[in-house]
Amino acid sequence: MKKLKITGGAQLSGSINIQGSKNSALPILAAAIVSGGETTVHNCPAISDVEAALEILSYLGCRTERDGDSVFVDSSGFSRTDVPESLMCRMRGSLCFLGAILCRAGEARLGYPGGCRLGPRPIDIHVKAMRDLGIEAENNGDELVFRAERPRGGIVSLSFPSVGATENALLAASGVRGTTVIINAAREPEIKDLAAYLQRLGVPVSGAGTAEITVEGGVDYKKTAEHSLIPDRIAAATYLCAAASAGGRVELRGAVYEDVASVADVLSGMGCEIKTGKNSIELIKNRPLKAPGREIITKPYPGFPTDAQPPLMAACLLSEGETVFRETMFESRYRHAPELIKMGADIRVDGKIASVRGVRSLAGAELRAEDLRGGAALAVAALAAEGESVISGMEYVNRGYEGFDMALKSIGARAEAMD
Ligand code: EPZ
Repeated sequence: MKKLKITGGAQLSGSINIQGSKNSALPILAAAIVSGGETTVHNCPAISDVEAALEILSYLGCRTERDGDSVFVDSSGFSRTDVPESLMCRMRGSLCFLGAILCRAGEARLGYPGGCRLGPRPIDIHVKAMRDLGIEAENNGDELVFRAERPRGGIVSLSFPSVGATENALLAASGVRGTTVIINAAREPEIKDLAAYLQRLGVPVSGAGTAEITVEGGVDYKKTAEHSLIPDRIAAATYLCAAASAGGRVELRGAVYEDVASVADVLSGMGCEIKTGKNSIELIKNRPLKAPGREIITKPYPGFPTDAQPPLMAACLLSEGETVFRETMFESRYRHAPELIKMGADIRVDGKIASVRGVRSLAGAELRAEDLRGGAALAVAALAAEGESVISGMEYVNRGYEGFDMALKSIGARAEAMD
């Protein structure tokens, strides 16, 4: 899907089955290298970032196969330790192959990773974490070269709870004999999911989900493992924002409330009704929304997730009052704002701060997605706009949302994919 046409105004109604987590799939597919055996990943979303990860696995000599929602990886044929920039550049998630390759082979040579243009995306925390494990790291201008001449377990202290650096530290430490403690680790649910997979391989990991993770490296791995990915909390947050924006009643099947609590709390405070079931979340919006009444500050988990900032901004455009966003995680994550302004939104951006004043209506427009979550935000706004919007650059959205157009249509949105 290159473009998405949305005719706004329809009340939404129905249920969406929430896909498996993109940000769990990427590190766990990389981790399938570690054992040299066979891994089956269930609930694996059919998105282009997963396709990119499978291409990297194949390049490294692994055999991969998709059967519906399950992906099979046989890493016995693993035969190289380099990943060229042509494969690394397609997504930031390719960086987690660093820790996996080091764990398996003790050396890695990577091109520079890609990813949404959210501002500078340095890798200094990753490099420091590898050095804390006694792994030599060199940036020779063309590629990143790592060699575990004399790796040692010990303390890996992260200056910031970087999700990717935590994943790389966990993966690399799994291959280093001895006990490693990761301090100031990221606490995102995807870290717990990766740790759960490593435990299925026989790697003793404790503390995942807290700021201190302990891993016993260098153990004998089980040769087969199966793992079912957690639901994608950002996809769930996005569809909650879509329902809040368009109005109606939408149930998210498979969503875990705890993982999206910070987003659901804001929507509830704006006037949405939220109901939680055993494995579902329902949002009902049947009256005008009011601004949240507090600043939305993006933070590491369990704080408000930066990835939900764009869709929530879209859901605030018609709410009564002013909503102030403070984006602390990335320097340039308001690229969706100028596109929303084309629809008549009242948004003022000043560095990390974006101030949204509710307007009475939005008009459909020709819009362009500039990144994954910003693209989804344009669709969230278009659902509530009068008339037709056509969103180009939907290749970004395909990276992280499985069947985005079909999901919206299944709950009554007038959405049509265009190539
Ligand atoms: C992961 O990116 C996610 N991607 C991002 O989701 C998410 O926004 C981010 O975590 C924060 O939650 C994947 O999991 C594939 P970080 P990651 O390292 O690991 C700075 C999406 O839309 N930093 O936690 O790259 C960095 O610049 C994507 O699904 C350094 O300074 O994020 C940022 O300001 C977008 N040096 C902050 O830390 C480093 O070495 C958080 O980055 C690493 C990071």
